[in-house]
Amino acid sequence: MSTMNPEISLYKEAPLSEPERQYYFMEKAKILIQELVQKAGRPLTFCVTTFGCQMNARDSEKLCGILKNIGYIEQEDEEKADFVIYNTCTVRENANQRVYGRLGQLGKAKKKNPYMIIGLCGCMMQEAEVVEKIKKSYRFVDLIFGTHNIYKFAELIVSRLESQRMIIDIWKDTDKIVEDLPVERKYPFKSGVNIMFGCNNFCSYCIVPYVRGRERSRDPRAIIREIEKLAQDGVVEIMLLGQNVNSYGKTLDEPMSFAQLLQEVEKVDGIERIRFMTSHPKDLSDELIEVMARSEKICRHLHLPVQSGSSRILKKMNRRYTKEQYLALVEKIRKAVPDISLTTDIIVGFPGETEEDFLETMDVVKRVRYDSAFTFIYSKRTGTPAAVMEDQVPPDVIKNRFDRLLKEVQHISSEVCAIHQGTTQTVLVESVNDHEPGMVTGRLSNNLLVHFPGDEKLIGTLVNVYLDECKGFYYIGTRV
Ligand code: 5AD
Ligand code: SF4
Repeated sequence: MSTMNPEISLYKEAPLSEPERQYYFMEKAKILIQELVQKAGRPLTFCVTTFGCQMNARDSEKLCGILKNIGYIEQEDEEKADFVIYNTCTVRENANQRVYGRLGQLGKAKKKNPYMIIGLCGCMMQEAEVVEKIKKSYRFVDLIFGTHNIYKFAELIVSRLESQRMIIDIWKDTDKIVEDLPVERKYPFKSGVNIMFGCNNFCSYCIVPYVRGRERSRDPRAIIREIEKLAQDGVVEIMLLGQNVNSYGKTLDEPMSFAQLLQEVEKVDGIERIRFMTSHPKDLSDELIEVMARSEKICRHLHLPVQSGSSRILKKMNRRYTKEQYLALVEKIRKAVPDISLTTDIIVGFPGETEEDFLETMDVVKRVRYDSAFTFIYSKRTGTPAAVMEDQVPPDVIKNRFDRLLKEVQHISSEVCAIHQGTTQTVLVESVNDHEPGMVTGRLSNNLLVHFPGDEKLIGTLVNVYLDECKGFYYIGTRV
């Protein structure tokens, strides 16, 4: 990671081009933070709290990269940290409620620490009502920015330190992608890699296209360069990230398919495992299935959100596939990659969902037999087409359906997980097991976990493990 760009002089004006401009502000921030450290007579610490998806997790690594670069030290307890940032999610209403609850607590901690800076960013900040509410009821917040200008974090910190005012900078959309800023990875051996930003699908329940903007793909050369660097740095597993990875490349000057990108990624020496998410069933191509079937590195796992099993509801959701098309796709994938593990997302209680529609969803679950499924209660998001649809389903009906679905999903999942018992699989060792000394935890290609005897020297390596026993959703094994 570069700490000082030799071409940057603080006596000159801030450069206008990126990322040079941000490196300039990082240098400036370093000096300001150093002054604060002197004044406080102790090191200053930071804590980044992430809500929501893998995209946010990756964005948080970028925030951590900047904060470390300018002189803050990481601290796990947010109430003790001097710079706290919440990277928020707004995909469901309860995510917003959690942020407000925690923010209230944090306000109390700030009263005791004159050095504390509180920043809010991420999807929730793209909603005008949210920013209004924070301005009114949470006046102790120092810095608010959104999803499109996260690369400006260093510059915004400097603005805050120099002005002592609440800094708010939210953009409606952007076509800009800024590369090559510092990143502080959570794991040394695996990493997410953004391949695209935003979404153009406008599923009728979903707020993502409004808060993450229009779809834009990163240049494949920049992606490969980043992955090569990660590999040199010891990363063996990467997860390609996008709201809809199957439509990767459509917005590039020289269009390229996701399957083509995967083949380029596969060539990078040192990368042993490739994962990706999320796939939209309507865009999953035969070319991709072929590439997956042939690949040595692409993991045997596909997250394929179905959302509903009723073609009628899928149409109202604007998903652009029917139940039959989805099931046919699953069959095609299973035929080409028989050992693939399938997972999904399901929404219960979309407006107008009848018992019959719900039973169609149950039918899909029983036919596909997912390895696991994330089940969600429909949450009304203001501004989305579904929020103003008639026939919102009563909460008690939704709860009843949700419980039945969850029971079925869990029952199938425990049966499906057990089928690998008695086989030997390659696993990537991720951590030592906190609860049982002498045990480590590794991840199979299909994303399941296995605990087996070993020590921390194994972390980040790929080893063969015999799966002795399935314990519901994980295995106990022995190294072979
Ligand atoms: N209500 C409930 N679940 C939702 N999701 C997206 N929007 C909503 C909503 N309004 C779910 C979808 C998506 C996952 C990330 O979140 O299932 O795949
Ligand atoms: Fe939301 Fe649909 Fe885009 Fe996924 S594909 S982010 S569910 S609009």
